[in-house]
Amino acid sequence: MHRNLGGENMKIVDLRSDTVTQPTPAMRDAMYRAEVGDDVYGEDPTINRLERMGAERMGKEAALFVVSGTMGNLVAFLTHCGRGDEVILGNHSHTFLFEQGGMAALGGITPWPIPNQPDGTLRLEDIEGAIREENVHFPRTRLVCLENTHNMCNGTPLTAECTAQVARLAHTHGLRVHLDGARIFNAAAALGVDARELVQDVDSVMFCLSKGLCAPVGSLLCGSADFIAEARRARKVLGGGMRQAGLLAAAGIVALEQMIDRLAEDHVRAKRLAEGLKGIPGVEVAPVTTNILYFWLTKEVSKTPEEVVDALAGRGVLLLGRELGRFRAVTHYWISDADIETAIEAVRAALT
Ligand SMILES: Cc1ncc(COP(=O)(O)O)c(C=O)c1O
Repeated sequence: MHRNLGGENMKIVDLRSDTVTQPTPAMRDAMYRAEVGDDVYGEDPTINRLERMGAERMGKEAALFVVSGTMGNLVAFLTHCGRGDEVILGNHSHTFLFEQGGMAALGGITPWPIPNQPDGTLRLEDIEGAIREENVHFPRTRLVCLENTHNMCNGTPLTAECTAQVARLAHTHGLRVHLDGARIFNAAAALGVDARELVQDVDSVMFCLSKGLCAPVGSLLCGSADFIAEARRARKVLGGGMRQAGLLAAAGIVALEQMIDRLAEDHVRAKRLAEGLKGIPGVEVAPVTTNILYFWLTKEVSKTPEEVVDALAGRGVLLLGRELGRFRAVTHYWISDADIETAIEAVRAALT
């Protein structure tokens, strides 16, 4: 991306998120040529194909195309739970922190946040302690929600074994498990496993086409055929029946066909960025396993995080200043090796 700053055409290195990714030329071409129909009548061949492909990639019976990760998670909550039910989730999870409490606001569902461990996991004892017994005073626990990779916990991938343990516990208590797998293919790449292994024990999973996979819009919610049939109703009531959205699904198909196998490159670049930042006095870097990197400044640095973000922006490098003085940088398809070196040098310059 280039931006005109003060008359100068400056290349922008946009590390704020993998959601800033532009569609690839192959996606634009596929969108132009997409065959479409009325999806609310089930007649959009491109959406139908994308949903079949997504379900297959997750090893589930069926899938539903939704406009965003937030909508996919909300549709899952509305489908698994009724009004007055409760969901156990991590206190740093995206669903708890960044989705406007949609489950409560729109579904009458109570979130019960329990501590995320630094690697994004939930302790089994904490889950068990949060499960309500049958009592007229209590909401009914219905669902456990996990996140993989974990955005706020350094983009850490959750192993299949970890997910299986939570699912075993939940299922023993008659609960279901939903996975916010916005970046599930990053997790699979980092762990060197098929994404199906990471989701085989959950009842539903949402993954995003629009983040590291570069599609302009869209996520898929996957689960059993019965679950997805109900989820289709929930999507409709939220206004998510999209008619000729095969135009968007066409880009999603390219995302699944062409963009998954290259995600490991983003992880290599995030590690190189971490290495470079570690060499700068005053910078501490969290462990990096996927495409999300957090760093912060030691007390010796006199600049505020806002000043640093502004100074970097002035040099054409965009990243997010987050809570507690943490900075987040996310690598993606449009970030090259040279961009990483530019970012490292910009941070060095911004701190001196
Ligand atoms: C872990 C996680 N879940 C869900 C979402 C929501 O996705 P969307 O922005 O498409 O609503 C995000 C977005 O960044 C995310 O990081």
